[in-house]
Order: sequence, then structure tokens, then C-alpha cells
Amino acid sequence: MLKSVIVSGKNCGALAKEVSSRLGVPFYQAYTRSFPDGEVYTRLPKAVPEKHVVLFVCMGKRPNHGLIEALLLADAARRHGAGEITLVAPYMPYARQDSVFVEGEPLSIKAVAKLLEEAGISRVVTVDMHLHRFKGVEEVFDIPAINVSAVPLIAEYVKRKYGSLMVVAPDEEASQWASIAAGVMGSKYFVLEKERSGDEEVEITGYVEAAERVLIVDDIISTGGTIQRASSLLREKGVKDVVVGCTHALLVGGAEAKIFNSGVIELVATDTVPNPYAKVSVAPAIVSALEGVV
Ligand code: R5P
Repeated sequence: MLKSVIVSGKNCGALAKEVSSRLGVPFYQAYTRSFPDGEVYTRLPKAVPEKHVVLFVCMGKRPNHGLIEALLLADAARRHGAGEITLVAPYMPYARQDSVFVEGEPLSIKAVAKLLEEAGISRVVTVDMHLHRFKGVEEVFDIPAINVSAVPLIAEYVKRKYGSLMVVAPDEEASQWASIAAGVMGSKYFVLEKERSGDEEVEITGYVEAAERVLIVDDIISTGGTIQRASSLLREKGVKDVVVGCTHALLVGGAEAKIFNSGVIELVATDTVPNPYAKVSVAPAIVSALEGVV
């Protein structure tokens, strides 16, 4: 087995370092910056030849920049003699375009998977990838891929702080995560219905079960519209407190104001994307995926 090294892209250092110390694998920080025109420059540390290079690239806040950083780091690792390359992408961008919804559209996640494979990446590890129309990561990638979940860690945090809460999925796609959270807490869950009419326009409807306090669980918060509408509906129906758990807190635009103005008392997010609500680290989940391959 090749000796492994962990190399982190620009925004992933803290998480990559935590994983490296838990696994006892050496950690190196790559150097990445943007040229004045926005192109990405990156450079690997020297410790790559004949190693299994485990690249950590956090692509949440700037998905296009992050993807190029991952492709360039993989290219550099291959050119400099890496024996094997694993990409740890805690947040996998473009996964929500998992279908040609309207004629003329690409199948974005497949295009992204192909780019990563062609860059020489031989394995992908990701967290709570937005898998809906594809049932598993193995249907997306032609290389070995592991998708781990941060939801048990989020549910444990919430249970420690608030006890077992009724869990709500804001839409059908989130029912997979709601069911995991309810399983961890030993509670029930129900699923609302979402109708999206634009990037920021969603309507949430559905039957609400009475409860004093509930946990809404979703994989991604982008503009905050989904959580805002779900929380407002729950409160209209008599729920007093809403706690939100989500893996990838992208929090674009005025998402935080929308969420907290809709009556949410706490947002529990993870560190797949740097954000102020990262109360749970996905390091243990990533370590479990890498054990046995590093
Ligand atoms: C899509 O179905 C995802 O699971 C999230 O619900 C969605 O990305 C949230 O987006 P927003 O915060 O903009 O409503």
C-alpha cells in the first residue's frame, strides 16, 4: 500500500488537518490564489511523488473556483508522480442538476463527475451529496465513490441539547435525511411538500403534526427560502420552536435573516462549508470513509 499524504486546497485546511491528525497521516497545505482576471493558480507541496495523495477541496462558497482548484491540484499531483489520488469534496457542487429537467439543459453532475475522473482522480469521498434521482454515488461516478452522512452527528448534537425532537423534511428530497435524524433520536418524522417556481421562490405545504419543538433537516441551505417557508408553516400551525439541522450551509445573500426571522431558534450546520453555524464537524464521518484506504 502506498504511503498517504493529505493535501488541502485553500478553504479546507482546518477540516483536512483534523482528519489528518485523527488518521495519523501527514498534512500539507497547497498554495492557491486567484489571478487578477479570476483564473486559479495553485501549487502542491513537494511531498507527492509515489504517494497516495488525498486532496481536500471545499467547494461550497465558490463552486466554480473550487472545481477548477480540484482539477488543477489533481493534474499537478498526477504530473508530479502521485501513485493514487483521492478527492475529498465535503460538498459536491452541481448535484442538484441531476436530471435534464428542461430540454436543452446539461446533466451537470455527470459532466462534473467526468471532469474529475479525467483529471486523474481515482476515488471520491463526499458528504450528504444531493442524491435524489440518482440513488447512490456509484450511479454518478465511474470510479469508486463514498458518500457519508453528517446527519447522525447533527441529530446527536440536537438530542444532547434539546432531547428527542419530532423531525420535519421540508420536501420529499429531504425525507432520506429526516428519516436518519429521527432514527438517531428515536422520534417520528413527517415530510412536507415543496413547489419551486424560481431560484428564490418556493411554496411549502403539507400536513403538520402538533409538537412544541421540531427539527427541520435538509442537506443544503442556499438562499434560505426553503427553511423560511417550512418554518413559517410550522409556526402558523402551532409549533413553538423550530431548530434547523443542515449539512451544507451555503447561506447566500440574506439567507440568515430569512431563517431567523421565520422563528428558527438555532441552526446546526457542519464544517463542509466555512460558516458561523458549523457546530458539528464532519471529520469523524470522513475518517470512517478513509479508514482502510489510507
Ligand atoms: C434542494 O432540494 C435542496 O435539498 C435544498 O432544499 C435547497 O437547495 C435549499 O435551497 P434554498 O435555501 O435556496 O431554498
